[in-house]
Amino acid sequence: MGAKRAVVTAGTGGIGLETAVGLAEAGFAVTVVGRDAGRGAAAVERIDAAGRAAGGGAVPARFLRVDLSSLAEVRGLAGVLGAEGRLDVLVNNVGGFFVERREFGGVEASFVLNHLSPYLLTELLLPALTASAPSRVVAVSSAAVALGGRRFDSAEPGGSYYGFHRYGRAKLANLAYSLDLAKRLEGTGVAVLAADPGGASTDLSTRTMTDPRIVSPALRVLWPVLGRVFARSTSGSARDAARSSLVAATDPGLAGRTGIVIGADGRVARPARAATSPAVAASVRQLSERLVAERRD
Ligand SMILES: NC(=O)c1ccc[n+]([C@@H]2O[C@H](COP(=O)([O-])OP(=O)(O)OC[C@H]3O[C@@H](n4cnc5c(N)ncnc54)[C@H](OP(=O)(O)O)[C@@H]3O)[C@@H](O)[C@H]2O)c1
Repeated sequence: MGAKRAVVTAGTGGIGLETAVGLAEAGFAVTVVGRDAGRGAAAVERIDAAGRAAGGGAVPARFLRVDLSSLAEVRGLAGVLGAEGRLDVLVNNVGGFFVERREFGGVEASFVLNHLSPYLLTELLLPALTASAPSRVVAVSSAAVALGGRRFDSAEPGGSYYGFHRYGRAKLANLAYSLDLAKRLEGTGVAVLAADPGGASTDLSTRTMTDPRIVSPALRVLWPVLGRVFARSTSGSARDAARSSLVAATDPGLAGRTGIVIGADGRVARPARAATSPAVAASVRQLSERLVAERRD
């Protein structure tokens, strides 16, 4: 039978690394994906030590060097993982946002990182996930979905660029896609769950959450208060923030459940209303199909 296999994207640091550690402790053979080989090697060492300490670790962890902001590299990763056959858990943990607007392969960067890249990876791995059923896909979400506009007729809405709002919109796209995918996969044994980590002090939060330019001028006037709220909500540990992903990926009590959100406290939470709208899901699906067909980068 062999060990169950799990993949964690952006799994060499922050919340992803803690998720990978927890999966190894639960007996999974873990693959972590990131860009930096040094971080990858250090992550594998830590994951293996945790697996051994928990009495497992029979199959060592593995690092795959992939830049998930490139759809071509995502396709390559899916090729490698898909050819291996077994895949019990896919944690789509990569995400992030930027203070100043940037693009990856001609598409606004946070839309690529938080939605397009995990969307493409998941779609390409559906044969392996279905063949390995019961299996789970975990979509790492964020409370920022509440700030996302709900129109998805193009990769970017009009108007000025405020990174946190674009992040919320991209996370909303991915949550709507994930809840819709859960319906599409009903009866296959592949469950799709979203996980909201709450907040943690990580590279992502320390790089971005202290800069008032991430929010619109209307919210920026509230920065003395908002900045403190952000600082407080991202002051916790990545280990605690990994809880929702770990519950979504491993909790036996969730067997047979799909299309649900796990909150930062590890309990089932109510999804943002826009993420459950069939119209939003349909426009996200059309946009995603079009963008990945157009972009061969
Ligand atoms: N931190 C929070 O407060 C918070 C709150 C809500 C939701 N979230 C969500 O939780 C998830 C993890 O967040 P985090 O704060 O742990 O993020 P993070 O600190 O940016 O995560 C660092 C990890 O991401 C990898 N990474 C970054 N860009 C990558 C790329 N292009 N390709 C491959 N790997 C990449 C890094 O490895 P390399 O540098 O080696 O590539 C490293 O393993 C994200 O989806 C985020 O949106 C976080």
